[in-house]
Amino acid sequence: MLVPINIIVNGEEYHLKVKPNQILLDVLREDLGLTGSKQGCGLGKCGACTVLLNGKPVHSCLILAPYADGKEIVTIEGIAGEEPHPLQTAFAEKGAVQCGFCTPGMINAAKALLDDNPEPSEAEIKLAIAGNLCRCTGYNQIVSAIQSCAPSNSDIQTEKRGKSNE
Ligand code: FES
Ligand code: FES
Repeated sequence: MLVPINIIVNGEEYHLKVKPNQILLDVLREDLGLTGSKQGCGLGKCGACTVLLNGKPVHSCLILAPYADGKEIVTIEGIAGEEPHPLQTAFAEKGAVQCGFCTPGMINAAKALLDDNPEPSEAEIKLAIAGNLCRCTGYNQIVSAIQSCAPSNSDIQTEKRGKSNE
């Protein structure tokens, strides 16, 4: 038996038929070809599969696809506009990406935080990414990249960009 669902992913509407026990991560990766969200543990422990569901970060390996019916999902493929999202630029500039496996989920978790709290403290950043594991960077660069996207740091960012264009 297949279950009909209607979801909006990265601004596009999809009418799909899914298995009742199919997880959202598989729908995104296999049915829609959005392979930016990664399958790590499959158990809700690593955060590599983090996407935004109605603006909140969730582990898509723990969400049954029928539950997503009528909801809006944003994956890493959907967060940039014509330019990369500032978080993507900051992660690249601050050395917060090494193997990159955790990065899509980490950036989605960070985006949810900044959408809700544009000036987070270091402790709030650490709490927001507590469900996202990175085995490469040691986290300091990730925290620093997220901090640099706070509006109060935008002068520094603008100045840096200006210098790199000279
Ligand atoms: S793959 Fe979903 S939390 Fe690890
Ligand atoms: S950059 Fe490799 S796991 Fe985070």
